[in-house]
Amino acid sequence: METRRKRSLSGIKPTGAPHLGNHLGMIRPAIALQDTHDAFYFVADWHALTTARDPKLLRQHTLELTATFLALGLDPTRSVFFRQSDVPEVQELAWLLSCVTNLGLLLRAHAYKAAEEKGEHNLLPAGTFYYPVLMASDILVYDADVVPVGRDQVQHIEMAQDMAGHFNAAFAPALRRPEPLVLEDVPTIPGTDGRKMSKSYQNAIDVFLPERALRKAVMGIKTDSTPVEDPKDPDKDTVFMLYRLYATPEETAAMDQRYRAGNYGYGHAKQALAEVLERDLGPARERYNALLARPAELDDVLRDGARRARAVAREVLDRARSACGLGAVAKAPTVSTKS
Ligand code: TRP
Repeated sequence: METRRKRSLSGIKPTGAPHLGNHLGMIRPAIALQDTHDAFYFVADWHALTTARDPKLLRQHTLELTATFLALGLDPTRSVFFRQSDVPEVQELAWLLSCVTNLGLLLRAHAYKAAEEKGEHNLLPAGTFYYPVLMASDILVYDADVVPVGRDQVQHIEMAQDMAGHFNAAFAPALRRPEPLVLEDVPTIPGTDGRKMSKSYQNAIDVFLPERALRKAVMGIKTDSTPVEDPKDPDKDTVFMLYRLYATPEETAAMDQRYRAGNYGYGHAKQALAEVLERDLGPARERYNALLARPAELDDVLRDGARRARAVAREVLDRARSACGLGAVAKAPTVSTKS
């Protein structure tokens, strides 16, 4: 008998060009999981709507993110890639979850607490407050086993675990408990100013910058003022930290030695970083541009993904509906919620 592969599921918001931090922290590890897992990934356009206000841009960013995943190696014949909002079953399960979720749980969410501390919570869209419920539904509706995410999302996965537990305890074991998968060997990715790479700090390097702009961004990385001839500590330098994430282990060891030996300047290191980035991302950039030139094909990929995602979501939602007494015929839930 064929056993089901573990399902890996994650979502990413279409808020603009992905940067190296997104690539290393989430996109690259998520794509790698398609070799061992049944991979379901989606563009979280409903979640983006808590802040997005430009419909043209939202659509464009959705296509760009789709092209990004495909260009970087997501295989839509093996994996399921789709738009969150193409699966309406998610919204119904979210309602069911909200009915077994205490207000207290949502009041503890980091995003809400941050707004509260600034005294701005009354201005927060209710959708932002409800965000963890929708996200839990995103995960639970596909019977996900693991959710590859950055460390900042772990609280949300734990809330999804809580909601699944509350639902199963209140009704019947209909929902599978997911586990967060934080890739421990991915450190916080530094941006050009040495702080965590983030769009909001304007220190990000976008994945598909044209070659010259990429080189320029690398040359602009802030380094300390150690003179060329002096030895340098690779572990304290942003250029080295980025280099090792794209270079081979041998290349990394060689650069580590050069830093410690001296007579090797940050300019040289930046040159080497620009080269490994171009080696890794250059061919993907070409695929990305070719894909974006054919948006109808991207739409086909999303449509086909949504069809396959919905088939799973429908089953899980039906299980949850019958567990809580909705619908005409109460079928007993049949899921094994153990993983
Ligand atoms: N909240 C996630 C982020 O901001 C995006 C997201 C939405 C997500 N739904 C999800 C991630 C479900 C994992 C699983 O990055």
